[in-house]
Amino acid sequence: MDSKIKDLNEKLELAYKGGGSKRIEKQHAGKKLTARERILYLLDEGSFEEIGALVTHRTKDFGMENQQFYGDGVVTGYGTINGRMVYVFAQDFTIFGGSLSETHAEKICKIMDLAVKVGAPIIGLNDSGGARIQEGVRSLGGYADIFYRNVQSSGVIPQLSAIMGPCAGGAVYSPAMTDFTIMVENTSYMFVTGPNVVKTVTNEEVTSEELGGATTHATKSGVAHVTAINDVDGLEQVKRLLSYLPQNNTETPLKLPYELGDEIRKELIDIVPDNPNKPYDMHDVIRGIIDANSFYEIHKDFAENIIVGFARLAGRSIGIVANQPMFLAGVLGVKSSRKAARFVRFCDCFNIPLLVLEDVPGFLPGTDQEWNGIIVHGSKLLYAFSEATVPRVTVITRKAYGGAYDVMNSKHIGADMNFAWPSAEIAVMGAKGAAEIIFRNEIKNAEDPEAKWKEKEAEYAEKFANPYSATERGFIDEVIMPEETRRKLIKAFSMLESKQLDGPKRKHGNIPL
Ligand code: HXC
Repeated sequence: MDSKIKDLNEKLELAYKGGGSKRIEKQHAGKKLTARERILYLLDEGSFEEIGALVTHRTKDFGMENQQFYGDGVVTGYGTINGRMVYVFAQDFTIFGGSLSETHAEKICKIMDLAVKVGAPIIGLNDSGGARIQEGVRSLGGYADIFYRNVQSSGVIPQLSAIMGPCAGGAVYSPAMTDFTIMVENTSYMFVTGPNVVKTVTNEEVTSEELGGATTHATKSGVAHVTAINDVDGLEQVKRLLSYLPQNNTETPLKLPYELGDEIRKELIDIVPDNPNKPYDMHDVIRGIIDANSFYEIHKDFAENIIVGFARLAGRSIGIVANQPMFLAGVLGVKSSRKAARFVRFCDCFNIPLLVLEDVPGFLPGTDQEWNGIIVHGSKLLYAFSEATVPRVTVITRKAYGGAYDVMNSKHIGADMNFAWPSAEIAVMGAKGAAEIIFRNEIKNAEDPEAKWKEKEAEYAEKFANPYSATERGFIDEVIMPEETRRKLIKAFSMLESKQLDGPKRKHGNIPL
């Protein structure tokens, strides 16, 4: 045994030796890293403390007693990232495909429990074929122990998952219950069952990449929130994401030092085109408002008609939800509602104020949307905003039509401050459609129906295609010039900093899942 420990210590020493992340980056940029290298790259140099390095599995079936490996396929422990405590596990695919045995699960549960007790984020670097097949129900039990802890920790500490190799079964369900999933392109996969099983059961031929690669999950399913070009990039994404988050739900995110200066942003003046049907890129509005280079987009390539992500405003971490007129005119649909609702709920869990930038012509009509449950999915976003108690501010840049006006953080559902640009149109629908419906008979019976329609359209537009009717009623607090937006928002979020709101006592609400 002594010689085994010596052997292990030598290996660990070698792995930990000098250079830390810089050494790894130099030697392995673009390559797959080992489990230990991943941890060393992720954490501050010299900060990693391993827990359970000598654990081995207890299985005797299938000749397993002769295949014992220290650590049992997972490296677990704690350390710091930019000086802040985190707990981390990294699965080692070279040991039984990183599969999860009873003891492998116990190691992960141990650090999950510590993370909750201490109130620090947990990061899983996943590279695993799921439940260890040789262990039967013991490995399934191990996964259930992890799932249970994922749920108990949800909304208490941030849980981040990086997918860094082929992951199946429990190795995808646990990440799905964490807050964010980052996938490495071309080397990581996520599926409940792999291509071989798919072929056997459904006779469908599909590659791993098509079935569950990073691109698939970042564009089609939305399972991946962020993608990375390689392991090093994936670990950098974890670090960047963490920088916007507090350590736990009782804290607020770190506020970077910021000195207020001239906060007028002239570049915001000309972004919204004069023609209300012409698209523009809402990213330009975001960039014009936030601190330079501070936007970290989530779900960038999924449901692009809505943009969500973290940013800093005068050093303060905020979550942004913004309609994107460049895609489907910024309508709300099944996927975009789900995407935004999940993000809003995350921000609310972790005391991150919400900024909504609104230009939305309504919900996407059609059988595809209706049959896929837009009624339920759309109401998720309505629910998520309505229950959020963090500071909430909205800026309407152009359209705020129909139910989407209500949903997108209106004052009626609890937003704290709502601003509108002079270009805002706040109405039940666009003037053309509205005129067609309410003046149908007048238009039909007119000598020149086309001219009548135009006249009625102009009449409706005059009344509602502006922010003033809503402002008179107090639904909008102030009409602001675009260039003033950053200054107004810095002041509004500063004013709202100590907001406290407790809802009625209940076990939990029943969000329409
Ligand atoms: C034991 C496993 C394993 C597993 C892989 N290995 N998965 N050993 N239990 N679950 C071993 C392989 O036998 C192999 O060992 C080595 O790891 C590498 O695996 P390969 O298949 O050669 O690698 P690759 O071709 O990259 O394919 C990776 C894979 C595939 C897609 C993950 O291995 C696979 O489909 N594994 C099974 C997935 C699965 O069905 N898991 C159980 C899910 S049930 P050798 O010795 O040959 O190198 C589950 C319950 C959770 O997780 C409940 C959810 C609600």
